[in-house]
Amino acid sequence: MACPEEERERAFEGVLAKYRDRPGATIPLLQEAQEIYGYLPQEVIRRIARELRQPVSRVFGVATFYAQFHLRPRGRHVIRVCQGTACHVKGSANVLEAVEEELGIRRGETTGDLRFTIEPVACLGCCGLAPVMMVDEDTHGRLTKDQVPRILARYA
Ligand code: FES
Repeated sequence: MACPEEERERAFEGVLAKYRDRPGATIPLLQEAQEIYGYLPQEVIRRIARELRQPVSRVFGVATFYAQFHLRPRGRHVIRVCQGTACHVKGSANVLEAVEEELGIRRGETTGDLRFTIEPVACLGCCGLAPVMMVDEDTHGRLTKDQVPRILARYA
């Protein structure tokens, strides 16, 4: 049985072949590569540049310009504590602090065991539930900082 790394490599080769010599394909190629690896390792960016016959700096520039692309590994679970006005007024800063304390990382960072990433975010669109935190697709509203450890414990 192929190990996941070999499978990823094979899938990536397939994607490279699909977009070979198509200069306009930078973004879809980066998207598909990120789907395979979960983020965009430097070596992957270099290989994409080679395939598209573009300078590495240009492909790297595209990858850093768009927020959808991630240049570092991300956790299995992404935590978004709302920083919008309604949530701010209701104490979201305390919730974010509690998350950072519980995990020992700051916003924008990923835990060493790749379990969680804290992602900075503006309004999550459910201000009536302020303060709001999302973990993956789950919305947790009307939060207090004391609830944070129990909520995070649910995500293995
Ligand atoms: S301000 Fe937090 S959900 Fe809108």
